Amino acid sequence: MKRRTFLSGALGAATASLFARASRAAEAGDGMSSMQEMSGMSGMAGMGHPQPALAAADALAAGAPLSGLRTLANESREAGVFRATLIAQPAAHALLAGQPATTFWQYDANAANNDGPVIGPLIDVREGDRVEIRLINRLAQPTTIHWHGLPVPADQDGNPANPILPGAEHIYRFTLPKGSAGTYWYHPHPHMHTAEQVFRGLAGPIIVRAAADPLAAWPERHLFVTDLKLFADGTIAANSMMDWMNGREGQFVLVNGAREPRIDIVRDERWRVWNGCNARYLLLAFDDGRAFAQVGTDGGLLGTPREGVTSLLLAPGERAELIVRAGQGASAARLLAAQYDRRKMAMTHGSLPPTPTATLAQVQFAPRSDGESVNKALPAQLRPIAPLTPSNAAKTVVFSEAMDMHAMHQPGASKRGMPQGMQFMINGASYDPARITLTSRRNAVEQWTIANQTDMDHPFHLHGTQFQILARESEGRRVDEALLAWRDTVNVKPGESVHIATIQRETGDRMFHCHILEHEDLGMMGTLRVT
Ligand code: C2O
Ligand code: CU
Ligand code: CU
Repeated sequence: MKRRTFLSGALGAATASLFARASRAAEAGDGMSSMQEMSGMSGMAGMGHPQPALAAADALAAGAPLSGLRTLANESREAGVFRATLIAQPAAHALLAGQPATTFWQYDANAANNDGPVIGPLIDVREGDRVEIRLINRLAQPTTIHWHGLPVPADQDGNPANPILPGAEHIYRFTLPKGSAGTYWYHPHPHMHTAEQVFRGLAGPIIVRAAADPLAAWPERHLFVTDLKLFADGTIAANSMMDWMNGREGQFVLVNGAREPRIDIVRDERWRVWNGCNARYLLLAFDDGRAFAQVGTDGGLLGTPREGVTSLLLAPGERAELIVRAGQGASAARLLAAQYDRRKMAMTHGSLPPTPTATLAQVQFAPRSDGESVNKALPAQLRPIAPLTPSNAAKTVVFSEAMDMHAMHQPGASKRGMPQGMQFMINGASYDPARITLTSRRNAVEQWTIANQTDMDHPFHLHGTQFQILARESEGRRVDEALLAWRDTVNVKPGESVHIATIQRETGDRMFHCHILEHEDLGMMGTLRVT
């Protein structure tokens, strides 16, 4: 595997090794101030002055029953029409005892909801629905709403090219086609402010339901996972340089806005799980190794259920549908985001330690004895999925990165709060709103190869469509994908190439990017023009 590339000058190399040790300490929770002193940097995003310590890892209460998600009410009485308003606005939540309330940015239909989850309300719609959602921007920055994974028209998809300015509003309109049932989400996508707007709370779930859903009778539970980096004074931390470099992971992983909620299961359940974190990977597993079934991916149900799954990786942006069974007799288990090594960069050659295991939820299993609601058989077939067969010339998307230590250490090396000297690129260039990276024809089934030439994992995401993974290739070994599934996000490991089959059904400009939102903001994004 290729070594990490650092374009370091002599000065850079010297400070870099110091910085590597300091950043390890910072990752271990020792705070950032020692790193700033040692590195002598100034003007870096959030690095030029001492920062408060992080809140203790147990500063948020754990173990409360899992809250359900809020649901966005439909203001329309017309059949087949979903009409609603979302106001992006600040909202204060009392989180830390003895500290001022924490100000999030949040989606609400009306005035800010200061209780309950920060997560935006669930948009629960059906295939065939016409959707009209008015966004009112009460933030001090431009924003957009992007309908992650949904096949909406390109000019309704909240692209960075279509910002809604502070104080302005906009109605997004689209119709959900047949076959689009699945688990999606919405979040902002403004140029260079996506990471911040999401980590401050702007993200919410979408469920599109099919007229005939073979699992409609199963009780459903929703787990929207987010990540929070909080200072001890209750403020949400700005991104540090290491957050920009590796993608931000907070000290808290939250499910429906709460730390380690308790889930009581008395019947077999269908779970929808969203990874709404900026950068944290969720290697889902129960701590006792118990198996679950996977029945869906980003774009809806699988063709056939996958039984006996004991761990499932959800990269940032990805979703899954699971079947969690109540089991035989009472038991308890923790749902984990198990340790995952995505090869986060240190400031010199090499990597930081893997992200340690985090508990997502405390699950109590107490199966009812009526026998009907437990140990239910899944249908052998969930729905037909026709394999996409690419006919066109192949396209390649190459992820690369370059770290310029010298530039990183220049005084004032920040631009709009983003550090200089870090380049995250697609096909050799950082995102430029004026450049079309790739061009496709409408309705052409294409093979794309996503090649990760960096030393860390990057989740690839393509707008406007769902794709199928064909194969993964690493170190000359090609493994055909066994699971036929619709996805819009796929993790690509260092040195790996993932081959996908994809199709765009409407013309217009579509984004594709790394879904580590810091990398996206730093330029690991391109534009696909569909003609
Ligand atoms: Cu979820 Cu372009 O993003
Ligand atoms: Cu998207
Ligand atoms: Cu990335």
